[in-house]
Amino acid sequence: MTGIELPEHVRANREYWDATADRWVAAGERSWAQDEPTWGVFHVPQREAPLLPDEVDGMDTIELGCGTAYVSAWLARRGAKPVGIDNSERQLATARRLQDEHDLHFPLLHGNAEQVPYASASFDLAVSEYGAAIWCDPYVWIPEAARLLRPGGRLAFLCNSVVSVLCAPDDENEPPTERMLRPQLGLHRTPWPEGSVDFHLGHGDMIRLLRRSGFEIEDMIEIFAPEGAADSAFGYAPAGWSRQWPVEEIWKARRV
Ligand SMILES: C[S@@+](CC[C@H](N)C(=O)[O-])C[C@H]1O[C@@H](n2cnc3c(N)ncnc32)[C@H](O)[C@@H]1O
Repeated sequence: MTGIELPEHVRANREYWDATADRWVAAGERSWAQDEPTWGVFHVPQREAPLLPDEVDGMDTIELGCGTAYVSAWLARRGAKPVGIDNSERQLATARRLQDEHDLHFPLLHGNAEQVPYASASFDLAVSEYGAAIWCDPYVWIPEAARLLRPGGRLAFLCNSVVSVLCAPDDENEPPTERMLRPQLGLHRTPWPEGSVDFHLGHGDMIRLLRRSGFEIEDMIEIFAPEGAADSAFGYAPAGWSRQWPVEEIWKARRV
């Protein structure tokens, strides 16, 4: 797909992610090197926040907005057959280098996770950790994930919590306040001053969208900072705030 055909937010986010990909290299290297999956800014272990199914051996999986693709690497080591798609060629360059270094190869596609060039019902699991989960329009990528999944297939994604978005100042590196700064009414598309655009939905809207798209919701896990945690590496997730309110949420749904 050429840049001209891409929706405006996809073009803006491509430019943003190509420009900032260097910042994510070290984190990608660390995550590829670890064996046990951990989730979100506080690295909560999979056993405490089970985003992935217990058993993925033999599953066809797709990571929507895979970035440096460490989630797909974890899946491949557990016997899955992953594919990753990402909007940023520079993020994929890191992913490809890490594939070579770890001698663990799977297909990586450069493209928009809102329109994936695979046939319907090609996958058993669609996963996103801060990829399509926040950078794609939910009214487009969630129906697209439903199309890609076989009946009984799983969708699992992690995103910022709604309350953290409502309390976020315009500078994404500033900590969230203890006061709502944004209305929840109409919550959908959030443009950020540095040019990127992300998306969040209130819980009622998300539940209705998932159900309407053909999913049965299995769980929604709210993630807090673990007891005694230090501040996360991300300004938007200080430990004190994140110990009181959920900073992230995991959604798990099953394709009917
Ligand atoms: C924070 S990273 C998350 C990925 C992975 N968990 C990681 O940390 O490397 C966000 C990724 O979403 C990708 N992204 C943004 N918009 C996208 C789109 N429309 N389609 C596919 N990927 C997209 C970005 O290029 C970026 O690599």
